[in-house]
Amino acid sequence: MKVVVLTGAGISAESGIQTFRDADGLWEGHDVMDVATPEGFERQPDLVYRFYNDRRRGLAAVEPNDAHRALYRLEEALGQDFLLVTQNVDDLHDRQGHERLLHMHGQLYQARTESGRILDWREDMDATSRCPQTGETLRPHIVWFGETPLYMDEIDRAVRACEIFCAIGTSGVVYPAAGLSDLAWRNSAETVEINPRPTGGPFQRVIEGSATKAVPLWVDEVLETLG
Ligand code: APR
Repeated sequence: MKVVVLTGAGISAESGIQTFRDADGLWEGHDVMDVATPEGFERQPDLVYRFYNDRRRGLAAVEPNDAHRALYRLEEALGQDFLLVTQNVDDLHDRQGHERLLHMHGQLYQARTESGRILDWREDMDATSRCPQTGETLRPHIVWFGETPLYMDEIDRAVRACEIFCAIGTSGVVYPAAGLSDLAWRNSAETVEINPRPTGGPFQRVIEGSATKAVPLWVDEVLETLG
């Protein structure tokens, strides 16, 4: 059984990380164009470094929840037939030990040089931060608006081939991630959404509920069908 799961900010909400577009969302108080575009970074690099430094520091204070754990159980059972695609830049999925995990929007714990070298980076970052190998300046390894998400070919292939596609905790307004559900639907997968506020996207099955309650139950169900 080939399964692709797409997660968004909602899966980490109950761990204490703010979503982007809910009432008290992360963007509140920040103009997206200032903190999540290459132009914003060019205009006010210090503001952007600070914004991601705060987010990165915040990760030390949060823990994965039952939904993150349940998805790891699914990977353990399915192995190569499983792929977890996350839009999240936190490391809560990573802490489970996934081998089949792609961060399509980058990661807070990584930095990137102008020449495209990716580094693990857990400290604060600013205009004086340098790549220890090349001496280049660094930016957060985060995919901003107007930039191309990562691993799109691999994700596209897996979505076309999957039998179940499940979108968890994502508002479905940011493309190309939002288009993946539609791609799965058109390729005859069963499309499932788990969200306390269903989005009206292309899903055959909508499980209205919070991630920590609904994801473990859904995973149990999929595991039962495997026998
Ligand atoms: N369990 C499951 N879903 C939840 C929960 C919860 N406890 N709480 C909120 N949600 C849902 C909301 O109903 C909403 O549909 O999570 C979704 C969060 O939506 P967004 O804040 O838009 O987050 P996301 O879809 O991940 O955003 C996509 O936008 O700005 C960019 O790059 C950023 O990756 C991000 C992308």
